[in-house]
Amino acid sequence: MKIALIGYGKMGKAIDAIATAKGHEIVLRVDVNSQHLLTRELLGQADVAIEFTTPETAYHNVLKCFEANVPVVCGTTGWLDKLPEIKALCEEKHHAFLHATNFSIGVNIFFEVNKKLAALMATQPQYDVSMEEIHHTQKKDAPSGTALTLAEQLLATVTRKTGWVNEESGQPDVLSIISKRIDPAPGTHSVTYTSGIDDISITHTAHSREGFAAGAVTAAEWLKGKAGVFTMKDVLNL
Ligand SMILES: NC(=O)c1ccc[n+]([C@@H]2O[C@H](COP(=O)([O-])OP(=O)(O)OC[C@H]3O[C@@H](n4cnc5c(N)ncnc54)[C@H](OP(=O)(O)O)[C@@H]3O)[C@@H](O)[C@H]2O)c1
Repeated sequence: MKIALIGYGKMGKAIDAIATAKGHEIVLRVDVNSQHLLTRELLGQADVAIEFTTPETAYHNVLKCFEANVPVVCGTTGWLDKLPEIKALCEEKHHAFLHATNFSIGVNIFFEVNKKLAALMATQPQYDVSMEEIHHTQKKDAPSGTALTLAEQLLATVTRKTGWVNEESGQPDVLSIISKRIDPAPGTHSVTYTSGIDDISITHTAHSREGFAAGAVTAAEWLKGKAGVFTMKDVLNL
């Protein structure tokens, strides 16, 4: 498979190594200094593009992939406000777009555990719930995209929480999401339910970026030849 890599930072390089080891060909590598390479012609040589850049640039990069009619796997987080527009455009023009706040298999299983635990806790008001996420200091968005997915899942079920804040909320109906930035930290997420009697906590700790990168390559292999809007849930059939 021919892959265009848009974004050649920590994730772009990790994806390059895994995709190459699997026998895929990287036909284009674009970073902040080579954005002029994002042409219809050069992008069009790829079977699929993988985009891991910044919250400010992801939207425009995905549009360029659509213009070149190249399926795009996007892992950039922190641009949720523009996602509905991209998804609508993708559906309307029959492009292929797969976005995930986290590509690791472990986190996607963790998402399912989070939903199950939230359903059990929905009728147990004696438990308060809070979240914590830890990432490296260069991370641009807070809370992390993964934390937002976990929070959305939780708020959909545990209705005694009506929203979230990215600090200690001090209010029983507002979910606290604490973001810590420590080096090195590829990503830790915890959801903790606390009562006067006991605590229940679920935690996912990434040991490296390899799981995200391998998941993104698997997603790209899966997306080739498809049209529509997808997530890792579709790839992993969860
Ligand atoms: N979904 C997941 O599983 C997952 C996992 C890890 C990270 N992420 C997300 O993926 C994104 C990238 O993470 P990272 O750790 O790889 O960050 P990073 O190391 O900072 O890399 C970002 C790369 O994008 C480049 N870039 C910036 N603007 C660009 C543009 N307009 N066109 C092309 N490239 C551009 C940067 O170039 P310069 O270095 O020259 O500035 C850099 O190489 C973040 O949003 C992060 O939260 C998602």
